[in-house]
Amino acid sequence: MEKVISGIRPTGNLHLGNYFGAVKSFVKMQEEYNCMFFIADWHSLTTHPTPENIRRSARTIMSEYLACGIDPEKAPIYVQSDVKEVLELYLYLNMNAYLGELERVTSFKEKARTQPDNVNAGLLTYPTLMAADILVHKADKVPVGKDQEQNMEMARLFARRFNRIYGVEYFKEPQSYHFTKEAVKVPGLDGSGKMGKSEGNAIYLCDDEATIKKKVMRAVTDAGPTMLNQEKPEPIRNLFTIMELVSDKQTYDYFNDQYNNMAIRYGDMKKQLAADINAFCAPIRERIWQYQSDDAYLLQVAQMGAERARESAAKTLKEVREIIGFRA
Ligand code: ADP
Ligand code: TRP
Repeated sequence: MEKVISGIRPTGNLHLGNYFGAVKSFVKMQEEYNCMFFIADWHSLTTHPTPENIRRSARTIMSEYLACGIDPEKAPIYVQSDVKEVLELYLYLNMNAYLGELERVTSFKEKARTQPDNVNAGLLTYPTLMAADILVHKADKVPVGKDQEQNMEMARLFARRFNRIYGVEYFKEPQSYHFTKEAVKVPGLDGSGKMGKSEGNAIYLCDDEATIKKKVMRAVTDAGPTMLNQEKPEPIRNLFTIMELVSDKQTYDYFNDQYNNMAIRYGDMKKQLAADINAFCAPIRERIWQYQSDDAYLLQVAQMGAERARESAAKTLKEVREIIGFRA
């Protein structure tokens, strides 16, 4: 079975965009592939979070993944820092990674611009650590968004270079896996094209009913259609896109007809949308709370994940050391 590895930086809670754009597909993929999901806590050090922040984030992501339906028996969930083999591979890969190519990575340049006081070496070598995450399991496929394409190219470059330098056919080039049909780009309710943490317009899976309602009622709308069957401007289209994801077809069709007949009342539509988002999130939210309060279970999941990940990583490192010329 093909190996799939997916990493997520622990930067907060999951929102509807993360769910429909990625996590929902992960739940399906765990049936079809040999999946592993990990929390990239070492990567998060590039922005210097506090210890409390790091501890909390790993637990949060783990509870949310579980609540969304990732089954740790099928697809281990582990914390990157539990698998020290990754560090050793990171070191080896760094010896064959060149300053010039690392400096040219767009996300590095962007970070260097946005945090000029903290252009640390970890930031520069972010792509080698990411390559180590992937190559340590000799993964075939990596589900990533477009923004990670350059990091994926670097991972393939490092894999090829390792093979060339040591004259082996050891690492295969990991392929990016783009969710095709099933994944949806979730827009923002503020009229913007994307729901995101940094966009500040996200509805989180753990938001309570009142918060969801407040966010939806604030959604940007316009004065209403002035022609029959008028094309929807972006903010309105966004409302409908989200409604299509969380509401049943009848509800969607009803408001769509209302819009086309110029009879739409956005207030009513928002109330319905808020109720449907809440109905969608409520069971997930409850499970998040349950997992969050079950430290023993979370620990067990993390330990189980770490064990499976270490097993796969240790095998690779043993071979890599031999190839490089160290005692295995
Ligand atoms: P954010 O943009 O909120 O910081 P992340 O970068 O943490 O989100 O997103 C992790 C993954 O979740 C992305 O690689 C992408 O697959 C998915 N994702 C995030 N936002 C959206 C969205 N609005 N629509 C679809 N998928 C999304
Ligand atoms: N760089 C990825 C992101 O920002 C997170 C990540 C780290 C990752 N290591 C990885 C993703 C390995 C896939 C595989 O989203």
